[in-house]
Amino acid sequence: MIKPVSYVKKLEGKSNTHLIKFDDGYDYAVKYFIAGFEKSLPNEWVAYCLARYLQLPIPYARIVEIPPDFSSQIPGFIESSSNFQFASRYIPGCSNGHEVSHMKEIVNEQQLASIILFDYWLSNGDRTKKNILLREEEDEKYHLWIIDHAECFGSYNWIGEEVEDLPVKILKSATHQLMAQFVKDESAFYEALKVIQTLPNFLIEEVISLIPEDWQVSEAEKKILSQYLIRRRKKILPHILKKYMAREYLPLHSAEKSKEEEEE
Ligand SMILES: Nc1ncnc2c1ncn2[C@@H]1O[C@H](COP(=O)(O)OP(=O)(O)O)[C@@H](O)[C@H]1O
Ligand SMILES: [Mg+2]
Repeated sequence: MIKPVSYVKKLEGKSNTHLIKFDDGYDYAVKYFIAGFEKSLPNEWVAYCLARYLQLPIPYARIVEIPPDFSSQIPGFIESSSNFQFASRYIPGCSNGHEVSHMKEIVNEQQLASIILFDYWLSNGDRTKKNILLREEEDEKYHLWIIDHAECFGSYNWIGEEVEDLPVKILKSATHQLMAQFVKDESAFYEALKVIQTLPNFLIEEVISLIPEDWQVSEAEKKILSQYLIRRRKKILPHILKKYMAREYLPLHSAEKSKEEEEE
């Protein structure tokens, strides 16, 4: 397991996230397990593994162990009841969605429909403009990454059955709108749905079973979580997608089309 070498700085945001250099030579954004946000790290872990399997643009991440005597030296450190934390490899030179005003192109646009559907699958209520990273590759052309999945499954402190009946409603996300503008063909969403539905059940269960014990997810909650993921992608996601298409994606593009026609 990689070991922390030196503390760099606190990262902005509401959670206890710090930039730390590790002995593999990389810096990681380390999110700590803290009271009141108990599901934040389990959510990050499960979302990360599923996103990787779906080949979404998510920074490489891992669970790390940080000795208490290292953590206690962090300025303003909030006590953690676990030595295991979630570490996302820092991608330098990025802006967030608020900081970029003109975007001609997203170079990995073929991944955008999957990201939106992924957020619906996991009930991620926090796809804000701060939770995407944009790196300019060429003049006004950006590569997009997704970060911060602490608020999947409804919240960062969900308990037991709360996950069972999460809403099927449209997520009001300006970031989804931004991304959807770059999805040229609606078939990308249906392809993404197929891929989500082909993920083996045992893989979902395996990922959940690897949640460190310290993170206090009970066996019953693990079961609820895997059943939620397995059921939602088959039974509910197709309905959500239909609704999303009718209410969000198609209106967005027909508005664009009529604007183009006006301009001609
Ligand atoms: N892998 C990463 N690469 C670059 N910056 C990151 C990375 N992960 C997090 N950050 C930065 O740290 C901030 C806080 O991380 P985030 O996971 O969004 O936690 P919070 O729950 O506090 O919003 C982000 O808004 C972003 O600026
Ligand atoms: Mg964030």
